[in-house]
Amino acid sequence: MPESFFILSKDYLELATDEIIAIAKMYDRFAKAKVISNLVIIQSKTNWKEIAKRATFVKISGQILRKMSGLFLDEGNIGVLKNAKTFVCRIVNLSSNQFNVPELESSMGDMISKFSHAKVNLENPDVTVYLIFTNNENFFGFSKRDKVAIRPKKSKKYPHELDWKLTRLMINLIGLKKGETVCDPFCGTGTTLLEAESMGIHAIGLDFDEKMCEIAKANLKENGYHSEVLKSEFQELTKISEKFDGIVTDLPYGTSSKASEKPQEILKKFFSILPKRKRVAIMYKKELDVNSKINGLKKYHIYRHKSLTRTILIK
Ligand SMILES: C[S@@+](CC[C@H](N)C(=O)[O-])C[C@H]1O[C@@H](n2cnc3c(N)ncnc32)[C@H](O)[C@@H]1O
Repeated sequence: MPESFFILSKDYLELATDEIIAIAKMYDRFAKAKVISNLVIIQSKTNWKEIAKRATFVKISGQILRKMSGLFLDEGNIGVLKNAKTFVCRIVNLSSNQFNVPELESSMGDMISKFSHAKVNLENPDVTVYLIFTNNENFFGFSKRDKVAIRPKKSKKYPHELDWKLTRLMINLIGLKKGETVCDPFCGTGTTLLEAESMGIHAIGLDFDEKMCEIAKANLKENGYHSEVLKSEFQELTKISEKFDGIVTDLPYGTSSKASEKPQEILKKFFSILPKRKRVAIMYKKELDVNSKINGLKKYHIYRHKSLTRTILIK
């Protein structure tokens, strides 16, 4: 079974690790994962590019060619360079040993140049060859240059809008597939709708504020997207629950956006009407859950500053 590697950014490492595993399992429920610090090795029939494309916090990814004990490569290892004109070698050192990385990269480049016609190109190579050191194992792998994904656009910024990365992460944590539908019952400017559509997931947004609905619609239009936006209280979701597969939302904080009532009351009521058998990822201000009564499968806490810690709850 092919193995891929994903080096994750250390911001939100637990979330990033769970995200990559959730994506891998969404494509192939038999996928297996091994986590070594911020390196995740996935064994799955899914191509690494498919997984990397959906993920939010991946810095480097590629396919593993083999595990290796030393630094010795032979011609068989560099078949990946067969059709490449250019390559570069990169060392990722996750072990506790100190290496002279530039020196090692350049000697690996020299070694490979003996077997291959490809030339070294540091800026924009066709193939990047990786040697990843960990305390127990070393991995030899590669990645190929790919097109940079087009991000959804928004013409204006609003103070209460959610960071697109956390939104995308929540969609991925509940494993929504291309062709499925997500509902955001507090859609605001439509961040969830934009992220979902950019991954081929349909979306329905609700917001009780007419102005927010207009902004969300304008943002969708700007990207040529077609998600539905309904001016409605969040309770409407119980009436349309057969239309969606999961809920991803960011509840009112009681600061910069309008709220129909106290955010704490909204959280309580919203939680009590969540449809069963739907996948749910919700974000709310931690302090609003006064008696820690809001529970699900997993909770993550994201510290922003001393008066704001966000909770992401997966249900
Ligand atoms: C924190 S904001 C959501 C921000 C959104 N994720 C974004 O990126 O723009 C919360 C939203 O909930 C809406 N809202 C407040 N009370 C509501 C209610 N009772 N029903 C539906 N929407 C409500 C507000 O208008 C606001 O747009």
